[in-house]
Amino acid sequence: MDFKQQILQGIPSELPSPKPYDTAVSHAPKRKDILTQEEKRLALCNALRYFKPEWHAILAPEFAQELKDYGRIYMYRFRPDYTMVARPIEEYPAKSQQAAAIMLMIQNNLDYAVAQHPHELITYGGNGAVFQNWAQYLLTMQYLATMTEEQTLVMYSGHPLGLFPSHKEAPRVVVTNGMVIPNYSKPDDWERFNALGVSQYGQMTAGSYMYIGPQGIVHGTTITVLNAGRMLKGKIAGKLFITAGLGGMSGAQPKAGNIAGVVSITAEVNPAATYKRHTQGWVDEVFSNLEELFVKVKKAQTQKIARSFAYAGNIVDLWEYCAKHNIHVDLGSDQTSLHNPWAGGYYPVGYSFEESNKMMAEQPEQFRAAVQESLRRHVTAVNQLAEKGMYFFDYGNAFLLESSRAGANILKPDGKFKYPSYVQDIMGPMCFDYGFGPFRWVCTSGKPEDLDMSDQIAMEVLQKMSETSPQEISQQMRDNITWIKGAKENRLVVGSQARILYADAEGRIKIAAAFNQAIKEGKISAPIVLGRDHHDVSGTDSPYRETSNIYDGSSFTADMAIHNVIGDSFRGATWVSIHNGGGVGWGEVINGGFGMLLDGSEDANRRLKNMLFWDVNNGISRRAWARNNEAIFAIKRAMNENPSLKVTLPNFADTVLVDEVMK
Ligand SMILES: NC(=O)c1ccc[n+]([C@@H]2O[C@H](COP(=O)([O-])OP(=O)(O)OC[C@H]3O[C@@H](n4cnc5c(N)ncnc54)[C@H](O)[C@@H]3O)[C@@H](O)[C@H]2O)c1
Repeated sequence: MDFKQQILQGIPSELPSPKPYDTAVSHAPKRKDILTQEEKRLALCNALRYFKPEWHAILAPEFAQELKDYGRIYMYRFRPDYTMVARPIEEYPAKSQQAAAIMLMIQNNLDYAVAQHPHELITYGGNGAVFQNWAQYLLTMQYLATMTEEQTLVMYSGHPLGLFPSHKEAPRVVVTNGMVIPNYSKPDDWERFNALGVSQYGQMTAGSYMYIGPQGIVHGTTITVLNAGRMLKGKIAGKLFITAGLGGMSGAQPKAGNIAGVVSITAEVNPAATYKRHTQGWVDEVFSNLEELFVKVKKAQTQKIARSFAYAGNIVDLWEYCAKHNIHVDLGSDQTSLHNPWAGGYYPVGYSFEESNKMMAEQPEQFRAAVQESLRRHVTAVNQLAEKGMYFFDYGNAFLLESSRAGANILKPDGKFKYPSYVQDIMGPMCFDYGFGPFRWVCTSGKPEDLDMSDQIAMEVLQKMSETSPQEISQQMRDNITWIKGAKENRLVVGSQARILYADAEGRIKIAAAFNQAIKEGKISAPIVLGRDHHDVSGTDSPYRETSNIYDGSSFTADMAIHNVIGDSFRGATWVSIHNGGGVGWGEVINGGFGMLLDGSEDANRRLKNMLFWDVNNGISRRAWARNNEAIFAIKRAMNENPSLKVTLPNFADTVLVDEVMK
């Protein structure tokens, strides 16, 4: 059977042979044994409902064993034999080009070069899943291959509920991930529901088919490191940046450090992750001996050259070494997966990688205590260096939150965190409030020359805009022009031919319209998928991250994320998604996003203008209502340009008067 036939058959009619557990691939850690005996029966019945009863006698013991061995039923036997890679769009069997584009994006999220644990359908973040099991993958691809543009596919946390009649202007796919009744949104609830096979953690761009490899975050990290460096005195060259994590997203840190011009050290405990980033050229050198490492680091700092080093070991050992040896560190952060602290997101100091993996599955309480002890040591060392001038920031991984829960010395006397989230100081006021966010695109031809042409078009659009852009956003425009000029040279593509760029509403619309025109004229040979990270202006309500610079008390509400996705869905998105969890943890964030196919048509031109305008400006409006000055500036500008936009603006209370009244 060729690729098309295999997709079209969905779940094969003949039972495939069992697949050996491939040790050459990175696997998700064994999940906690959380289900009662009765619930395990239920999990098994849930899994078997995907298959004809004749197979149940074979599959039931096999799935029970998977549940026992891995804490989940992945249905490994049904993993397809074809290569998991984003193919050129015409290679997909499809009645709708929009559906074919979604298939391409799904395969990209599961590509071995892209996905963190491809056999467990995990794209990044340790638990960021595209599907819960292989049956869901097979059925979804089959539905996409057969659907028309008069239908919409409904996805419940990886499970394809089915195709429903709709219309051409409706999204082709509507995705929800991890949506639960709020009182049932604790980390153990995720463990239970996921083990039962009824919910999944979609992260941000994993369960929404919009992940583009670590490039997605290189740009955001570059902006963050660059602007953090600008906050310090002196030139950025020769400054030392220390952080942790070379995983799915965190693997971007060394590359971003090089682009920003600093010397960086990234600690990583998982040898497979370090090896992957080193062989991909994303980190320059790897050391496991700290003395040898610092000889090289000092040399790079003295020569003021940008260089990235990996420390193959625990971040706590690295921080404690720096504190003990009085090493001056300029910038510090952390991107271990602390949104998922008890199931492999954070490895405690003092235990090997293997010991930790065993302990988290077999002695979860002891593991939890080890993580918390490690976090307390982690923070003590960071505090010592911060007292000597290091600028430390939380990198959106729940480091501050989990450290405070572990009882680490991370709070000031007023009960607030000692360190800012990078959104509070940098990303919020400099980018999100003005509408700048991680706009991205994928060339569905798979041809590098199409990506080159799109880079060229985006650069020309930005250069033209920057001639007249107001002074408030001129730095952002300059940074983005520099980024896009160097994007190809920085070899950022892993997986599909994709690019990311921070742009505001005007920039996103103008670039998208120019792409659509180029497709129409044949300058770009095939459609482009447009999308964004959920980590953006409007898509995400997350009080410790995306909305941490909202100070009117509304940072714990999630109206914006819900409105964002509803609004996108009736303004022309090709697919939309809304997730509980992602970034900072299950129950801690609601985030959503979209995908949109640009095919050179007039319909696409109309949709992109309508949808992108809303997609950015709804978030700016909320940020303006929270009294953020940058957002008030941006939304007034948008209202000037589009008279049909009418946004409620805040008045500022006289704080002297309020203080007087409250005496
Ligand atoms: N700032 C942002 O914009 C942003 C974007 C995406 C993700 N994140 C957050 O960053 C975190 C990392 O994301 P990811 O996709 O890279 O996750 P990941 O799980 O793929 O990678 C984290 C890595 O940290 C390593 N690690 C864990 N504990 C360690 C320790 N004590 N010492 C050294 N290494 C350790 C793990 O082995 C793993 O490889 C997540 O919490 C994610 O939500 C932030």
